[in-house]
Amino acid sequence: MDDRELLREAEKARESSYAPYSNYHVGAALLTASGKVYRGCNIENAAYTPSNCAERTAVFKAVSEGERDFKAIAVIGGYDGEDTGCAYPCGVCRQVLYEFADAGNFRVITGRGEDDYSVHTLKELLPFGFGTKNLKI
Ligand code: THU
Repeated sequence: MDDRELLREAEKARESSYAPYSNYHVGAALLTASGKVYRGCNIENAAYTPSNCAERTAVFKAVSEGERDFKAIAVIGGYDGEDTGCAYPCGVCRQVLYEFADAGNFRVITGRGEDDYSVHTLKELLPFGFGTKNLKI
């Protein structure tokens, strides 16, 4: 599964986005070490705060299926028919990814589409993250 394929998976995930309040539709595709892909979309709520980002939907789906070893996530988001640039994971989603990913190697692929995207490691997006290493566990 290469970056472009994963971006296409994110595009498909975006089709399920439920975002009637922001109209900002996001899709994510999370790649596991075993090569499986978990799709996620943003899911908003009339009470606003229970809303969930696409990235976290994908992570929670994967972890709830027993997966914890992740290699990359592709994210595509924006308003329909408008160029709003790349959708980078929000701070909360970066923290959730940090819990499971090897930050220096985990790749975050954000794009307008499969022909226009950028790649960063999670460590670049969250350089001094708080994680399990900080706790006596
Ligand atoms: N959102 C995501 O799903 N992922 C991000 O990385 C940024 C924001 C969602 C949350 C909300 O449903 C909408 O985009 C606007 O903030």
